[in-house]
Amino acid sequence: MSDGLPRSPARAYAVAVTDRTPPGAYQNPAPRGFRDYPGNSRPGVRELYRLQHRHQTVEFVKAKRREYLSLDRRRMGIWEAIKFLDRLVDDSDPDTELSQLEHLLQTAEAARRAGHPRWFIVTALVHDLGKILCLFGEPQWAVVGDTFPVGCRFSEQVIYHEFFADNPDDRVPAYSTRLGIYEEGGGLDDVLMSWGHDEYLYHVVKDHLPDEALYVIRYHSFYAAHREGAYDYLMNDRDRQMLAWVRTFSTFDLYSKGDDSPDLVDQRPYFEILTSEFFPTELSW
Ligand SMILES: [Fe+2]
Ligand SMILES: [Fe+2]
Repeated sequence: MSDGLPRSPARAYAVAVTDRTPPGAYQNPAPRGFRDYPGNSRPGVRELYRLQHRHQTVEFVKAKRREYLSLDRRRMGIWEAIKFLDRLVDDSDPDTELSQLEHLLQTAEAARRAGHPRWFIVTALVHDLGKILCLFGEPQWAVVGDTFPVGCRFSEQVIYHEFFADNPDDRVPAYSTRLGIYEEGGGLDDVLMSWGHDEYLYHVVKDHLPDEALYVIRYHSFYAAHREGAYDYLMNDRDRQMLAWVRTFSTFDLYSKGDDSPDLVDQRPYFEILTSEFFPTELSW
């Protein structure tokens, strides 16, 4: 979650309802002023991106995938993970200091009120659970913040693009052309994304949610693509279709943040039934 545009600091993010919006999808009303980088950033946001852009290389991403995607750290249910995550405040987010629990409940509640299908609401409820990587000892720059492909030229549409000058891959010829190690239109499935909570959670839940939900989880922090239209040349038609869901989801992820803190006691029974429809008692993390 999070980001904004360094090249146009005053820019506020109003998400347009476009003709790529899934039919009938409700867009959460988008007040101005979210993702205002660097204008409204909390201290630490810029530093997080400086470190993230410097250290997210092809080698780093491959090493983290080897380290985490065997999913052999612990067995944990969705609600245990939600409670576990609640100790964390996301340093990359310029918009909120709410706990992660509050953010997940607000996003899910906004999706529920908008009349979205149950898979969409449960996606909203779990979408940031991959941030438990922080509680496994990962620094926030390797968990949160906008994501982007590694192994090809970094787009100027990625937030704080200037920090990529310190990334060693920027000087590796094979990784610094437009396509890098990828094929034109080959699809994001074959693209290595910077390591973070999106990709990790996708692997944790991938046997339990429909494709649209998994796509939202996997790419919801890829703002350069779903907000700015960057990296279209890496995508196939499936990506372009699925990105419409990510855009719809993004309005809930961002614009429910100003809402009142949800009352967990009131909401928990509904959300417990919902999670039990989709997930087994325990998942491998
Ligand atoms: Fe997120
Ligand atoms: Fe989020």
